[in-house]
Amino acid sequence: MGLEVIPTDATLGATVRGVDLTRLDDGTFKKIEDAWHEHGVLIFPDQQLDDAAHLAFSRRFGALEQSIRRTRSTGISNLSNVQADGAVAPRSSLQARFLVGNTYWHSDSSYKRVGAKASILAAHIVPDTGGETEWADMRAAYDALDDDRKAWLEDKVAVHDYAFSHAPFGGLEILNKEELSHLAPVEHPVVRVHPATGRKNLFVGRHASHIRGEDLEESRKLLADLTEEGAQPPRLYKHIWQVGDIVIWDNRCVLHRGHRWPEDQARTMVRTTVAGEIAGNEWAIRSESPRDKVVQGEF
Ligand code: OGA
Ligand code: MN
Repeated sequence: MGLEVIPTDATLGATVRGVDLTRLDDGTFKKIEDAWHEHGVLIFPDQQLDDAAHLAFSRRFGALEQSIRRTRSTGISNLSNVQADGAVAPRSSLQARFLVGNTYWHSDSSYKRVGAKASILAAHIVPDTGGETEWADMRAAYDALDDDRKAWLEDKVAVHDYAFSHAPFGGLEILNKEELSHLAPVEHPVVRVHPATGRKNLFVGRHASHIRGEDLEESRKLLADLTEEGAQPPRLYKHIWQVGDIVIWDNRCVLHRGHRWPEDQARTMVRTTVAGEIAGNEWAIRSESPRDKVVQGEF
């Protein structure tokens, strides 16, 4: 059975079939990596990876990224509304509230000095309805801007701020003082060039608070508008999960968001994050065996 890459109808995303991610030779991995660079999001149906296989596949893309709960977790995290006792977390609980933040367009870890390279998400428990994940192609969003706007944005720098984006969803409550001290606001260019493809993209989303040197409220609105206008068809792909699916996306050029689901139903997704490849990235995990799992949803 050969590797098959089937693009979606949108400007991003492709489904990959004919491969077992637990047995990946270098040639097949290279084809997958090339397809990932081209499509930004790859969907691998029916892989049923356990955590060890999920971690091993993730490490093919680079060093894993340290979670925001620095001292309490390592390379793999559960985004789940299932409590440690097996019950579904009530809507008012911190665990459930934190997950709601993921329903706004974002690039994982863009509030860190070095944002994430890849996120790799596997469906373990899916609800009967809802709970889809959606991605937006911010390369195509940049391409669609008119020349004046491209020129104005070219040298602009956005402030990305964990406290700004997470405070409404309990993000300050889930971290201790030491963990929060590593999440001071950071700056990233609004227009970035993808290191592998050379394509420009709009680097915005919910963590982007405002533009440095511009009016705070006006630039906040502008960033929100860029996100909203960028995340429109044909630049959108929405995935309806089946248990065992695994998806990898490129946080350097696509945004994503989750959709709500009936709050009395369980949903458990397991995620790894590949660290951004910038020399001296303090969020990259050097150790080889991150094994702990956090029970609360996080990212
Ligand atoms: C994530 C995320 C959304 C979802 O895993 O980083 O934002 O649909 N997930 O669970
Ligand atoms: Mn996310």
